[in-house]
Formats: sequence, structure tokens, C-alpha cells
Amino acid sequence: MKVRRGPRSGLPVVVAIHSRALGPAAGGIRLRRYPDWRDGLVDALRLSEAMTAKNAAAGLDFGGGKTVIALGPGTELTPSLREAALLDVGELIESFGGTYFGGPDVGTGPADMVVVRRATSRVFCLPPEHGGTGSSSIPTALGVFAALRAGARHVFGSAELTGRTVVVSGLGSVGALVAQHVAAAGARVVVSDVDPAKRASGYEWVDPEKALRTPADIVVPAAVGGVLSAELVPELSAPLVVGPANNQLTSEAVADELAARGIVWVPDFIASAGGAVYTLLREVEGVPHEEANARVEAIGATVSAVLDAARDKGTTPLREARARVAARLS
Ligand code: PHE
Repeated sequence: MKVRRGPRSGLPVVVAIHSRALGPAAGGIRLRRYPDWRDGLVDALRLSEAMTAKNAAAGLDFGGGKTVIALGPGTELTPSLREAALLDVGELIESFGGTYFGGPDVGTGPADMVVVRRATSRVFCLPPEHGGTGSSSIPTALGVFAALRAGARHVFGSAELTGRTVVVSGLGSVGALVAQHVAAAGARVVVSDVDPAKRASGYEWVDPEKALRTPADIVVPAAVGGVLSAELVPELSAPLVVGPANNQLTSEAVADELAARGIVWVPDFIASAGGAVYTLLREVEGVPHEEANARVEAIGATVSAVLDAARDKGTTPLREARARVAARLS
């Protein structure tokens, strides 16, 4: 891990590498406000670990890493501060000499990667006109949708979504696309976001603090992590929880509590792998679009295998997913 006060921006920037056992570390660049910059550091460490699991379980030859730019509570993010921070990050990534590759994450997108690219070539998801494959949110949402259908087939006996209520908590770049997919499939969609302006999305609305407890068939955590706690589990009503937010559980023990209540939770590092799968296959291995998309869709088969194994062996989806990661890393 390297921590710097960015020489241009003055902002704390962190690059955390969790594992390079399967190849160079890969993971996005998160730009987020934290109460204390050390919260950003802890987030980078935990997110880098989640990337190790995500890349390993998806069968990718990449390790896990993550970058965090920690914006303080009172700091205004002007365009020039943003540019300075992205150049600081690019320089820090470059100092890893190819052992870590960055990409977009919460708070950043393809246009930001063009700025990072001025300081390092080790960055993915540039816009197509700059030679990249663009937003990773599109394949991430596609993978989540595949995971959601596989989960529905497991829990309800059918992947059909007509007549089902799906709550999408977090209408960011991935959540908004997941909402579109499930709406197009005929589900009743209820959304929430910390930004009240997102009410204008036109979907049914629920306040964010109530979102996961809303009576529904499926809830989709699509904002930041740490949302599924021991306190929340007894209040959940949906029998299926599946979404793209990284590190959804406040602790691993929450997976046991979910299972004990008969709630099927699809491990986040399985459901959210579409962006990594598509981007790394396309940009590193030169796999064509259709084939990369098919690999993203295959997340559905992985979800089915994990959920079936947990049911058959009386374990939890988390345990089965972790076993897959361990098998690849050993
Ligand atoms: N940041 C996204 C994730 O958490 C997508 C991504 C993966 C971006 C790998 C770059 C590299 O999966």
C-alpha cells in the first residue's frame, strides 16, 4: 500500500494492493467523501481485498487492488481539484511499475480515466475514442442482472420478473442500469438514493434508510457497502438480496444470520464482477465484445452453482463463494 498527500491536489490518495497471486492487481479508483481520511484508507484496504475475491472467483488472472481519493467533509470538489487529484493518482499508480492497474469506480468515470492516463498507461475504461472500452457500469449491470435472474430461479423457481417487486437501493451509474433491466423485464421497480434529485427518475420511490426493509421480492444493494448488519437482518422482508455494492456485509457473520432467516444473499464479489470481467478480457486479452459479454452472462451460472452448493451442503453462499476463491488462490 502507498499513501500520499497528492502533491498537486493536497488530497490523501491511497493505492492498496491486496494480492498479486494470480497476476497484477486490478481495481477501480474511488473518489468519495470520508469523515476522516483514515476511513478512506480502511476502505481502500477492504475494497482491495474484495477485488482479490472478485477477480479470482470470476476466473480472471488478476489480483486485487483499489485506489481511494479521500475528500474531506468540508472540501469543495472543483473541476481543477478533481483534475489535480486524478493526476496525483496517475503518478502514484505509475510508481507501481505495472503491478497495479486502475479503472473507474464510485465517483469516477471514463472521462476521468483520460486525465489519469496523462500520468500512467496502467488504466482501463477510457472512452472508445481514446482507445478504451468505456464505462464498466454497463457490463457490471449486465452481470448483476444475470445474477439476479439466477437468484430468482433459485428462490422462486423461475427467473420471470413480471409481477415481482424489486427495490434498487442506490441509483448511481450501476444501480440506474440495473433498474432499467428489471423494469424492462416487467418487474415493479422501487428505487432510493441519498440524492433526493434522483426522485425525478420516475420510478416508485422509497427513502434510503427504509429501502432494504421495503416489502419486496428482491432487494438490490447498489450504493456503498456496510449496509447489511446483524441489526438489519431481522427487519428484512425480501427473500433474495443481490446487488453490485462492494462489501455489503458489516461482518462475515451476517451471512450466517441471513441464511438462518432463510434469506438468500448472493455474495457481492460474485454479482458485481461484470465490469472487471468485461474490461480485463477486452482490454488485456483482446477478447471480442460478444465473447466478453457471454463471460459476463456466465455470472448467472456461477451464482446458480454457489446457491445450489450452499443449499445441498447446508452451508452459506458466502462460504461456497469463498471456497471457490481459495481453490483458485491455492
Ligand atoms: N471498479 C469496478 C469494480 O469494483 C470495475 C473495475 C474492475 C474497474 C476492474 C477496473 C478494473 O469491479
